[in-house]
Amino acid sequence: MEETWAKEITDDGRDGVGEVAGVDLHLDLSGTRVRAGLENALRGAIRAGRLRPGTRLPSSRALAADLGIARNTVAEVYSQLVAEGWLTARTGSGTLVASPPTHLPSPFTGAPEPGAAVAARPEEAVPRYDLRPGVPDLSAFPRRAWLAAARKVLATAPDHLLGYPDPRGVPQLRAALADYLARARGVTADPAHIVICAGFAHGLAGISRALRAAGAATLAVEAYGHQTHRDIAAGQGLCLRPLPVDGMGAVIGQAGGADAVLLTPAHQFPLGMTLHPRRRREVAGWGGVVIEDDYDGEFRYDRQPVGALQTLAPDHVIYAGTASKSLAPSLRLGWLVVPPRLLDAVAAELAAGPSALDQLTLAEFITSGGYDRQVRRARLAYRRRRDRLATVLRRQGLRVSGIAAGMHAVLELPDRSLERAVLSEARQHGLAIDGLGGYRAGGTGPGDDGHRGRAGLVIGYGRPPEHAYTTALARLCAVLPGFR
Ligand SMILES: Cc1ncc(COP(=O)(O)O)c(C=O)c1O
Repeated sequence: MEETWAKEITDDGRDGVGEVAGVDLHLDLSGTRVRAGLENALRGAIRAGRLRPGTRLPSSRALAADLGIARNTVAEVYSQLVAEGWLTARTGSGTLVASPPTHLPSPFTGAPEPGAAVAARPEEAVPRYDLRPGVPDLSAFPRRAWLAAARKVLATAPDHLLGYPDPRGVPQLRAALADYLARARGVTADPAHIVICAGFAHGLAGISRALRAAGAATLAVEAYGHQTHRDIAAGQGLCLRPLPVDGMGAVIGQAGGADAVLLTPAHQFPLGMTLHPRRRREVAGWGGVVIEDDYDGEFRYDRQPVGALQTLAPDHVIYAGTASKSLAPSLRLGWLVVPPRLLDAVAAELAAGPSALDQLTLAEFITSGGYDRQVRRARLAYRRRRDRLATVLRRQGLRVSGIAAGMHAVLELPDRSLERAVLSEARQHGLAIDGLGGYRAGGTGPGDDGHRGRAGLVIGYGRPPEHAYTTALARLCAVLPGFR
């Protein structure tokens, strides 16, 4: 049995051995009879769905060169499979895998539907109107500017940058972020202390493992936050201790005994308050490790951005930022600024970071000014959306809170049964929206504090594309009037 990799080949490209555009074909030529072996290999690949209808096969010359067999043999095999209905030959477009016939017994009978082997898992149903928090307006992604940055990187990066990247992140991105974070967020950042990760979720998993390995047992978390983040930390073996959140933000005074604390100081997620200056000072003097999740710190509307807490205690605070809100979650790009004493341990846990090309593209995007432009543009757009949301709800006698920053607001409701009723009504109107209950540590039952916690809606005004926002707001208003 001989296994051969053959390149799919364009008719016009040439490199002396064979042209190399397109997909690779993995062909398993069994037996000594080359022609029969190739026929069987192609039939088998089509039957198994590895070669899908419409796939263009390499030219006979190119495939023969790759397999080291006579061109005539390949040409005869192609003709045979065309005659049998497996392939079609069209002048000008080469030899293609045929579509499965639907009306006659055929070579495909009994085979799984081509493509079945790679059948997509059912997609989550996409709601018509989506006001869930967490995702920015993806239709506003700066495609052209990002493409220009990626193009420049590919055209100019020396070959060695395509090798294994520095496990802490490519130096160009760490340098660009050190400048940006110092300028825009007031972070005390030395490029040597920055670790690039695949978004905050990845960073948090690495930090949690590093803390656990260093003997930490308990992580205090804000009583309201992402269940995903709580699961990540708990999954690495940390015990969680919910911290109450009041009008001044997390009550750090109740974190005593915890080894570390996870906070969203600039804009508490999801309640939306900013950590009060007095609490910031308390956190800075707290002594344990503080993980500062600065997920939407760029989007501050009412005054100058509240700077990062990290600068008050750079030896204790791990600062975490992400491109998920400012650009898009799909990039999976995030960054940590880590105190020197924790740096090696955290970096070791995050060694397999994001693609170096994406990192270089982000570095180029930042240094060329594209990132600042995008943030300014998005900030203006989200601010307008926030104002519209506040206005339409005010007309209904309702007031949202947590709106000094970010891209979500909270509409508190008197009780959980009302919250459930609104959510169910919203679903019937094709509107997806989150309730506060889903963000509460300890679920919806009585918490450590003995009561059932707050009730309300978390309204993400960033997510809908511009053209859908007006209708999304109208739907929201339609499900609310009965609850004034
Ligand atoms: C509170 C909070 N932290 C962090 C993030 C970003 O997470 P990631 O970088 O993993 O996409 C989000 C995104 O929704 C968030 O809401």
